[in-house]
Amino acid sequence: ERLLLASGPLLSWYRREKRDLPWRENRDPYRIWISEIMLQQTRVEAVKPYFFRFFEHFPRISDLAAAPEEELLKCWEGLGYYSRARNIKKAAEILTEKYNGIFPESYGEILALPGIGSYTAGAIASIAFELPVPAVDGNVLRVLSRVTGSFDDILKQSTKKKMEALVSEVIQPGSAGDFNQALIETGAMICIPGGAPLCSQCPFFTVCAARSQGLTEKLPVKTPK
Ligand code: ADE
Repeated sequence: ERLLLASGPLLSWYRREKRDLPWRENRDPYRIWISEIMLQQTRVEAVKPYFFRFFEHFPRISDLAAAPEEELLKCWEGLGYYSRARNIKKAAEILTEKYNGIFPESYGEILALPGIGSYTAGAIASIAFELPVPAVDGNVLRVLSRVTGSFDDILKQSTKKKMEALVSEVIQPGSAGDFNQALIETGAMICIPGGAPLCSQCPFFTVCAARSQGLTEKLPVKTPK
């Protein structure tokens, strides 16, 4: 499995083909954090206008901490899943009071913030700080299941742990943020959900077990609970 995920072709594909997205303009952990929370249940195109408006309202984490919750909810209106906004507010208060408004640079401290699970903590830690930690969400699970030819149920926590371990083995310090985003981008643009994957354009074309064995329609395994 180590060889299958060799990062060279993946990184060069990503650096050539990645979409220009507003949260890819810099590595500000505040912007990465808010983008990852917004993107959890919402499509990229729907997120964009909210992302811009958010930072007009709350340019610094301390502005978010000081704002009344209603102001944040107003800014979030239409995005849905309002617990996301409430957790953002709670985390902003902790970041302001405990960390002087500056994002902590350790995975454990990031993971301890409200509304931040292992995926989001890994995304922030790798993209903003280049910590070599995985960021495995549903899209990345689909890519990894197909590339490795795994029939493990991706809705199981044990499968997510396995895939996180796999990424941890191959992720390189210095390109961890791009590596994780390249997996995310492959899941969004090539190894898409619902339809047939665009294998001819895939950075994993030569190594993908599902493609070479004709299993892309069978994988990933997702057994409804
Ligand atoms: N979905 C989740 N995180 C993303 C990111 N950083 N870029 C594009 N789509 C995403």
